[in-house]
Amino acid sequence: MSETLRVEERGDFVLATLDRPEKRNAIDQELVDALHALCARLEVERRTLVLAGSGGTFAAGADIAQLRERRADDARKGINTRCFQRIRALPMPVIAVLDGYALGGGAELAYAADIRIGTPTLRIGNPETGLGIIAAAGATWRLPQLVGESLASEMLLTGRILGADEALRVGLVSAVLEPEQALERAAELAARIAALDPAATQATKRALLAPASAHPELELEEQAVLFESPEKVRRMTEFLERRGAKRPAREAT
Ligand code: COA
Repeated sequence: MSETLRVEERGDFVLATLDRPEKRNAIDQELVDALHALCARLEVERRTLVLAGSGGTFAAGADIAQLRERRADDARKGINTRCFQRIRALPMPVIAVLDGYALGGGAELAYAADIRIGTPTLRIGNPETGLGIIAAAGATWRLPQLVGESLASEMLLTGRILGADEALRVGLVSAVLEPEQALERAAELAARIAALDPAATQATKRALLAPASAHPELELEEQAVLFESPEKVRRMTEFLERRGAKRPAREAT
């Protein structure tokens, strides 16, 4: 258990709140360790994860006090990189609710999510080069996937931070809502996901994360497994029978 990552059961999902508001939820080793522990659990329990931050901030980056002390060997360990990769690879979807600052490592944690919802105070971007380092926890490859190479290059090379309107316009977040509504929207999405077939959801996520060279064989193999699943037959039969049951009524009118 960590004091800086609050983990709550919410029925359809697990809510994990970065809770170090006095340091703007800066991601330190303790938070990284707590996120790994959460991943270990969700790799087995397989539930949707909603990530949020407390105190009107998502996360103002990796902890600069710790970063300053790190050396080449620490960089090679990819302390945040491995953690965010693990979050990205979680079997079920990850939804990030981005209230206020999502900067540096905080932005990269957000990029690791499958779905991002912002609030009007969102400020998202990567000021790392101003600190004499690169954004090495996913931004250089993930941000171009999310917003295209030209804007990603501009953001990463100039440190320009986007506000909520621009983040919405460029598709970096899928909605901008007041904080409470943003959490409600995340819960609605988690409920929608929970009503779908978890095996199909997980297969879709694996296909989305696969490298281009793996397509289309990877999804054909995923589909082959699902085509044999009793749940597929059950869901399709239910659909067809529901329609069959409706037909006479409609034909009678
Ligand atoms: N790492 C470590 N500590 C951080 C931090 C970070 N990334 N971001 C904020 N903090 C700490 C501050 O040092 C301060 O600590 P103190 O009260 O002990 O002095 C506390 O959080 C509050 O920060 P403050 O700057 O006073 O808050 P603010 O609301 O005026 O400004 C920010 C918020 C996010 C604009 C500002 O804190 C900031 O620029 N943070 C760094 C952003 C960054 O460069 N991130 C990339 C890191 S890879």
